[in-house]
Amino acid sequence: MPRLRCAVALAALAAGPAAANPPTKPTLAGLTEPADYLLPNDGLMIPFRDQVPLVFVTKNSPEWAGLKTYFTEGTEQAVDPATGESVTRRVIKVKVPAGLTTAPPVPAENPLTLAKWNLGKKLYFDPLLSTSGQVACASCHSPDKGYTDQRKASTGIGGAVGGINSPTVINSAYNPLQFWDGRALTLEDQSQGPVGNNKEMFGGKHDPWEEAVLRLRNSPEYVKAFARVFGHAPTRDAAAKAIAAYERTVLVGNGLHDRAEAAMRARVTEEESGKFETKAEDYAAAVKGAFAAKDARALAALGLDAEKDAGKADEVGKRLFTGRTLFFGKARCSNCHAGDTLSDGMFHNLGVGVTKDGEVPYGEFGRFAVLRTGHKDTALVGAFKTPGLRGLSGTAPYMHSGDEKTLEDVVEFYDRGGNANPYLDEKMRDTPAEAAYLKARAAGQPTDPAVRTFGAGKRPVIPLKLNLSAPEKADLVLFLKALEGDPVDPVVADPQKFVEVGAR
Ligand code: HEC
Ligand code: HEC
Repeated sequence: MPRLRCAVALAALAAGPAAANPPTKPTLAGLTEPADYLLPNDGLMIPFRDQVPLVFVTKNSPEWAGLKTYFTEGTEQAVDPATGESVTRRVIKVKVPAGLTTAPPVPAENPLTLAKWNLGKKLYFDPLLSTSGQVACASCHSPDKGYTDQRKASTGIGGAVGGINSPTVINSAYNPLQFWDGRALTLEDQSQGPVGNNKEMFGGKHDPWEEAVLRLRNSPEYVKAFARVFGHAPTRDAAAKAIAAYERTVLVGNGLHDRAEAAMRARVTEEESGKFETKAEDYAAAVKGAFAAKDARALAALGLDAEKDAGKADEVGKRLFTGRTLFFGKARCSNCHAGDTLSDGMFHNLGVGVTKDGEVPYGEFGRFAVLRTGHKDTALVGAFKTPGLRGLSGTAPYMHSGDEKTLEDVVEFYDRGGNANPYLDEKMRDTPAEAAYLKARAAGQPTDPAVRTFGAGKRPVIPLKLNLSAPEKADLVLFLKALEGDPVDPVVADPQKFVEVGAR
């Protein structure tokens, strides 16, 4: 079955840097101006002083604690570049969830403003971008399904089934590269793919973006909104920018794990011990805090009842601490799942998608396939992007193949070291055992016949078994659930909610 691809970026990569073509003459009847991009007429745009920038505020900022809601209105002084005048204008402060210590990067050419965010949100949920008028971005990245579709492989236009699991949009703002194989550079780059993909949103006859742009230009409401934000008619460039602006606010953090870290810092500060080491009591404190705050969702993620289970806080705190210690220690998860989103942003072959013989099928080349010719790196054959680990309760099934149905299944997969294949990531391999095997073989001593060998030289590949006990596995799973975090704020997740632009 052909793989589902948001295809445009792949084509661009294969051809080298995107060519700077002059606006081409539209070929589609009814389209009077080029579809890709136009230059702005600033007379059509919202005046500088009435633009409302969205400003990310992280917990490092003294302002953060005072922000009552995810979006909070404030003001800023700014100099209008056209007049040189200093103006006071409204801003929306976005309260970046605790645990995300940096603001999502925003490309300089796509500043985040409220009108752009509203437009991007509308586009994200609008099936108008698909030829059939039935598939929206949200069809495969739905807020009520953890911004995925909860299917093994997603279903697009006309019921077409793709060959790869739909990743979550949650925290994708932080991905250094987009897609499982990283073939898109940014969210702007990524969002242009699905519209032209004939397994996702495209079932037309002409250029997909010309068709989509024509549909947008036939909508007076969109024409007005694009003019106000971009100073011209709807274009592919502008639509991509607006959608990306919306996606940058789809953030999840403040899991019980983050709260335990905060509890630790508060405790150490009070003790004046200077020993910043998280302990079981910090996890217990976080769980107790969730009971006190009646945070039923965070507790339910751990299988706890907010009404009945308050007495279990200490025991659960101990188990979470064990899970944490495994995650950062014996189970080696943090070798790849590290940082605020629990991803190194790199690509690794874990053996997901290899055949029984340990072959990597052509369609499973992953990162290797999209590297430019001249830069193919065999270490990245079958390598896929390390996903972040927040909001996992909504995003099953797991892995790019959707092969693992539950977190328990994922932990079993790692416990056996993934699947042996010639390109298994070094971090997944028992390299001392491999060296011992080679030494024994060279000395003519007997070797374990169960070890898989590959290539002409019969190179051994020995997956690193974790040897976790059943209770350890359960505690590791519990820890993964404590990364869950608060749900995406309704101002972002609710398709009906838009934020008023004009009101002062
Ligand atoms: C038919 C289902 C479908 C539709 C519709 C769809 N996507 Fe996707 N999306 C996917 C799949 C599947 C992938 C993974 C493809 C891959 O990596 O090769 C993906 C990948 C992504 C990613 C990358 C996330 C990451 O972690 O790398 C983002 C962001 C995204 N889509 C946003 C969008 C936006 C925005 C739209 C609308 C313009 C959209 N998607 C429409 C299925 C879909
Ligand atoms: C060598 C790097 C590496 C290590 C070590 C590692 N992971 Fe992963 N993890 C990845 C990559 C890469 C993927 C995606 C693989 C794929 O789909 O081909 C992944 C996928 C996952 C997923 C699925 C997420 C989703 O949205 O589909 C979970 C959950 C996960 N890992 C948890 C863990 C845990 C728990 C550990 C420790 C036992 C661990 N990982 C160790 C790199 C790693």
